[in-house]
Amino acid sequence: MKIDLKALKIEAENKVKKAKDLAELDGIYKEYLGRKGELSLILGSIKKLSKKEKARIGKESNELKAFLESKIKRKRHVLKEHIGILEKEEWIDITIPGKKPMVGHLHPLTKTKREIMAIFQAMGFEVVEGPESEIEWYNFDALNIPKDHPARDAWDTLWLKTKAEKLLLRTHTSPVQARYMEKNNPPLKIIVPGKVFRHEATNASHEMQFYQVEGLMVDKEITVTHFKAIISEFFKRFFKKDLDFRLKPDYFPFTEPSFDISITCLTCGGKGCPVCKNTGWLELAGAGMVHPNVFKACKLNPREWQGWAFGFGWDRLTMMKYKINDIRLFNSGDLRFLYQF
Ligand code: PHE
Repeated sequence: MKIDLKALKIEAENKVKKAKDLAELDGIYKEYLGRKGELSLILGSIKKLSKKEKARIGKESNELKAFLESKIKRKRHVLKEHIGILEKEEWIDITIPGKKPMVGHLHPLTKTKREIMAIFQAMGFEVVEGPESEIEWYNFDALNIPKDHPARDAWDTLWLKTKAEKLLLRTHTSPVQARYMEKNNPPLKIIVPGKVFRHEATNASHEMQFYQVEGLMVDKEITVTHFKAIISEFFKRFFKKDLDFRLKPDYFPFTEPSFDISITCLTCGGKGCPVCKNTGWLELAGAGMVHPNVFKACKLNPREWQGWAFGFGWDRLTMMKYKINDIRLFNSGDLRFLYQF
């Protein structure tokens, strides 16, 4: 038997080096150092050798045995450490409190929109929408504001640069009155929440882009009394208290008579502030009895039908409800403001 301990050493050492896990390393141990391993076989067979050979092979085999044992021991250590690192890396502390995801919430205007809709729906009103880019006819003509009528100046209009049809950004939600009456026969009760636009300087109570809620009720015998009853009920439910409100004569081409609806400014309690321009009162809506010419423009007989309409500033309603002192905060994107609601 030719015993090549050098080759054996190289082979075994290589295998130890390449071992990827503890099981593989155990296999290598068995293969060389186990009871039936290569080295044990060699040591078992040296009896047959000459005395001189016996001594040499015996010595070298024992050295190799010790060498491999220490190599395997060290490698075992390295592999165990590696496992330790992996365990540490993959360790999850299931007792750590979870990360709370940021949950958004509704914008104050969306909240009040939903409240306003719910209140009017409970009183039998239907919610209707209309386009934000509008044609002159609905924004003005159908509302008894003919071309070149000075009343058009009351609404500083933003015109769109369009080639085909002349379009504007609606200056109020009133055009939806005409759109709806054209297609639906009375009796009717609708509200129209929507965005409106005006080319105006901004201040604490004016924005270029703001929101209105139009209201329209048409039937055979509709009077201002119905109107007042609905408005006072709306205020009671929206502000959750009895509120004094004031109807003051006003002028709108599409209503006759017309009035403005004001309440005591709730941001300052009537003392006077920038929101109410120090008057103590804040105008929340324009309103009035539908003008006969509007009925005519919508092909309805003004002798047959009567009605009232209002246009609430929905931002202003929201400002009063939450005592917000500047309308510009709504679109400011300032999270410190929004988080309060
Ligand atoms: N559209 C009017 C405005 O924006 C308000 C209004 C609506 C007045 C309905 C009367 C009737 O100023």
